[in-house]
Formats: sequence, C-alpha cells, structure tokens
Amino acid sequence: MSSPVLIAPSILAADFARLADEIAAVERAGADLLHVDVMDGHFVPNLTIGPPVVESIKKVAKIPLDVHLMITNADAFIPEYAAAGANYITVHVEACPHLHRTIQSIKEHGAKAGVTLNPATPISLLQDIIGDVDLVLIMSVNPGFGGQKFIPSVLKKVAGMRDMLDRAQSRALLEVDGGVKVDNAAQILAAGANVLVAGSAVFSSQDYAGTIAALRAAGQPAATVASHAASHR
Ligand code: DX5
Ligand code: ZN
Repeated sequence: MSSPVLIAPSILAADFARLADEIAAVERAGADLLHVDVMDGHFVPNLTIGPPVVESIKKVAKIPLDVHLMITNADAFIPEYAAAGANYITVHVEACPHLHRTIQSIKEHGAKAGVTLNPATPISLLQDIIGDVDLVLIMSVNPGFGGQKFIPSVLKKVAGMRDMLDRAQSRALLEVDGGVKVDNAAQILAAGANVLVAGSAVFSSQDYAGTIAALRAAGQPAATVASHAASHR
C-alpha cells in the first residue's frame, strides 16, 4: 500500500527562544505535522512542554499539531491538551491501563487518537484496539531525549504493525520516532511507516528544506530519488 510520506519535525530540537521562527521555518521547508514532545519527569526522565505552551504554539502554527504525551497520567491531561489545540494526541500503552477508555476520551475531546509503544513493548498489545485509532507511533529510541541512536530491531515491529493495520483495513498513520535520519529513512519507510518524526535531523541541519525533502524522497523508488537529486545539482 503506498501512501504519501509525511514529515513531522520534533520541536524538542528547535531553539526554544525562537520557537515561532523555527515553526515558520519548518513550515516553509515543507513540514506536514509539528511533533510536540510532552514529558513529565515521571514516565520519562525529562520535563518539557505544558498545555499553555501548546496553546501559544497553536496560535502561530499553520500545520497540525502532533502531540506525543510521555506522561504517567495522560487521562488527566487529555482535556487540556485538546483544548490547547492538539490535532493528534498520542498516548503510551505502557502508561494507560484503560487504553480503550483513554482513546475514546481523546476523540470525545475533539482530537485524533494515537497510541505508541516503547521499543521493548510488543505490537500485539494493540491488536484489539487497532480499529479505534487514527495513528500508531512506534518508538525507535527509549523516550525521554532527542538526539539518541535509532534502535534497528524496531524495523521488524514497524513491518509487523504495517501488516496488522493492512489486515484490519485501517488507514491509521504509522509513525516512527527517534533517531530518524536521512540515511535510515528509506529502511523505515520500506518497512511500512508513512510518517517520520525528525528532531535533530531537521533542526541541526543547515538546510531544513533540503533535509525534509531528502527524508520524504527516501520513500520513493531509487530511480526517482536519483533524478530528484540530479535536479538539485
Ligand atoms: C524522544 C522524543 C522524540 C525526539 C526525537 O523521547 O519522543 O520525538 O524528540 O528526536 P530525534 O529525532 O533527535 O531522535
Ligand atoms: Zn516524540
């Protein structure tokens, strides 16, 4: 099944003192979604972005907000993140004992529902709720920090998840997050993902548009990539 490749820069790697400019820059550069990493210091060992910041981001962002909740008590915060303007709210299976209820709550609050798995969590945990979700996120690092190294064994999970989604005739997005770079994007897309989160790959590059285009082009057949590269010489 071929579907367009979407690129979601993670603002965790942006310059927070210039966040509106950074958001405008990745939008001009062709970003499809803005990935917002919310960390609580409990579920993961880092603290980041609360609902008021998301509300401010929403005022300047033109593309949808893809909010990744790495927090212990997601149920308590879904209403606030939805009200702040999150288009997608993604929760960790490991932190949500009543996952079906949590997914319904995200939808009732007007957002699209995403679920995510840490690298050590099996995809089988999603089998019974696959028909209810709009997005599945496979973590390819242990969440908590940007700039970590991609865990290659996760590619098998991406392929397994693609198979599970296709069998269920689900059109949910299949996103991969953590250590995604231009040089591993082709393998991730070939395994069946259609959304790439990229933090340091985009924001540490000198050319946001070139990096986003290269990530997207990694999903095209080799001949098309070669001609795309030639047209930029
Ligand atoms: C990790 C976050 C990621 C991270 C990605 O906990 O969920 O979204 O910001 O950053 P890079 O692309 O630098 O690995
Ligand atoms: Zn993330």
